[in-house]
Amino acid sequence: MQNIKVKIPATPAGSYDITVAGGLLPSVRARIKELFPGRNLFFVTDKNVVKAGHLKTLLGSGSADVYTIDPPGEISKMIETATAIVEAMEKCALGRDCCVVALGGGTVGDIAGFAAAIFKRGVPVVQVPTTTVSQADSAVGGKTGVDSTLSKNAYGAFWHPAAVFIDVETLQSLDSRQFNAGLVESVKHALIADGEYFDFLLENCDLLLKRKTDVLETLAIKNCSIKAAVVEDDPTEKNRRRTLNYGHTIGHAVESASGFELLHGESVAIGILGAFNIEQQLGLGDEKRISQVRTLFEKLGLPARIPAKIQKTEIIEMLKHDKKAIDGRPLFVLLESCGKVLCENGNWAVPVSPDILEKAIEGLY
Ligand code: GLY
Repeated sequence: MQNIKVKIPATPAGSYDITVAGGLLPSVRARIKELFPGRNLFFVTDKNVVKAGHLKTLLGSGSADVYTIDPPGEISKMIETATAIVEAMEKCALGRDCCVVALGGGTVGDIAGFAAAIFKRGVPVVQVPTTTVSQADSAVGGKTGVDSTLSKNAYGAFWHPAAVFIDVETLQSLDSRQFNAGLVESVKHALIADGEYFDFLLENCDLLLKRKTDVLETLAIKNCSIKAAVVEDDPTEKNRRRTLNYGHTIGHAVESASGFELLHGESVAIGILGAFNIEQQLGLGDEKRISQVRTLFEKLGLPARIPAKIQKTEIIEMLKHDKKAIDGRPLFVLLESCGKVLCENGNWAVPVSPDILEKAIEGLY
């Protein structure tokens, strides 16, 4: 078992622990009770997680107040779901002395975290992620929220978890499409922060696909350590935290334009290849690394192209309205080399001219 501390001075406790171990889930409820003696726990999960048996493993034989998101997935990541959760909490007569426990993937963590942020002006949330995306990324760092009909993550709050418990064994229940797509966040972390980690991913890809517990634990620890360092430095994404959005600018546009038919990780894989296309035009691209990432993505069965039914103009229009765009020019995180993000005049995300962007998008068809 390993612990990673994330120091966030602006939070009540000043820090929180991420605990990583295979087979942790059955002891998590007792650990939360130890952390928050006397607090009533309210569990948020989704139908897939219940079907996989993880809720039963977490709760043991005890009863509990639970809200199950149905249907699971991005389609439910709406303000209405957050409202339904806080109303369910009210019906359970919970007060400010309760604690929300989010058991599931990125959607569950984002909505449950947001519900915790707004319930009675904020109660603690404990994240118990069960997918490759949420264990690598979304459970750590305090980004919570829901989508609007117009854009992803339109409404939300930074609401840092009080604790994170990662049981890598929960990943065994994922189908291979979900499992592989979530690994893109690990590739992203390696590319932006740690060349040796990138080599580890290349060398251990086969074991990873066999879901070997020790390899999954190494990944969780690496991902959380990289993310924790960035989030500690810039908890509210004023600057350096933008590096965690590598591949996400084009990725989010593709994900939304696909009507969420493409998974988040699949869209980010396309977005990373789009960032490579920009880097190459700016003379930053490293051919060897680009071809290694392409091979890795192929092994993971990830798409390399934007589906033909999505118009190039649609993607470009969405990018102009990206929430980080300045004067209609979206900001991009770009790599100087493997493990090192380009930082220009202290800025970790740089505007890219429309012609370069258009060519980069064209290269994705
Ligand atoms: N997923 C990017 C971040 O947490 O900032």
